[in-house]
Amino acid sequence: MMAPPLHGSAAGRQDVAMDSSGWDRRYGGSELVWSAEPNRFLAAEAGGLAVGRALDLACGEGRNAVWLAQQGWEVTGVDFSQVGLDKARRLAEQRAVSVQWLLADLVDYLPPPAAFDFVAILYLHIAGGAMRDVLRRATAALAPDGTLLVVGHDPTNIQEGYGGPQDPAILLAPDEIAEALAGLEIERAERVRRPVPSAGEDVYAIDALVRAVRPR
Ligand SMILES: C[S@@+](CC[C@H](N)C(=O)[O-])C[C@H]1O[C@@H](n2cnc3c(N)ncnc32)[C@H](O)[C@@H]1O
Repeated sequence: MMAPPLHGSAAGRQDVAMDSSGWDRRYGGSELVWSAEPNRFLAAEAGGLAVGRALDLACGEGRNAVWLAQQGWEVTGVDFSQVGLDKARRLAEQRAVSVQWLLADLVDYLPPPAAFDFVAILYLHIAGGAMRDVLRRATAALAPDGTLLVVGHDPTNIQEGYGGPQDPAILLAPDEIAEALAGLEIERAERVRRPVPSAGEDVYAIDALVRAVRPR
């Protein structure tokens, strides 16, 4: 049986940002908490890019990193949950692809500068200042022409959407994400709706999506 499609407990909700041991517990079951398939926005936004080196920050159980590797990307996935990374490694083995998995806290992880053609950050929710620092370091990790994709639960999701964190202090709107990406060209910064199956019907979560490119 699949776990709830979004964070947390009842109705897929998560009330606070979790530390690494919280995520280890969350990932502790034998089933995947998320899915084995990539996030729909990642597949849509990365699908048309020329492959190269990719960095997946907060890679969790590896669904997005593994999909990128299947498309031919040379992928590094970073997360602070060892249990999540163990599941990611197993998924990569099942799909017969190679990914470099790194255990690190993104609050102080420094990716190599100008090294990646694609950087993805999906559903990483940490308190505002720390999140902006992660976004700045992700920006610095982009090679010229490299693309950054940030997708997360939008603040309006709390009232108008479904599931996800319920603490507005850890949610950023598209324009707030874009503001933290100094030096990049913003190609998309918008709210997007994501269908989530719930009790036999689709309900909609509201995500913030930003896609930006480092000019040459
Ligand atoms: C909602 S999951 C998303 C996982 C993955 N991006 C996906 O879309 O399937 C959030 C992930 O962020 C990771 N995470 C949260 N805070 C982190 C931090 N400070 N450093 C590294 N990873 C963190 C968690 O361990 C978890 O795997």
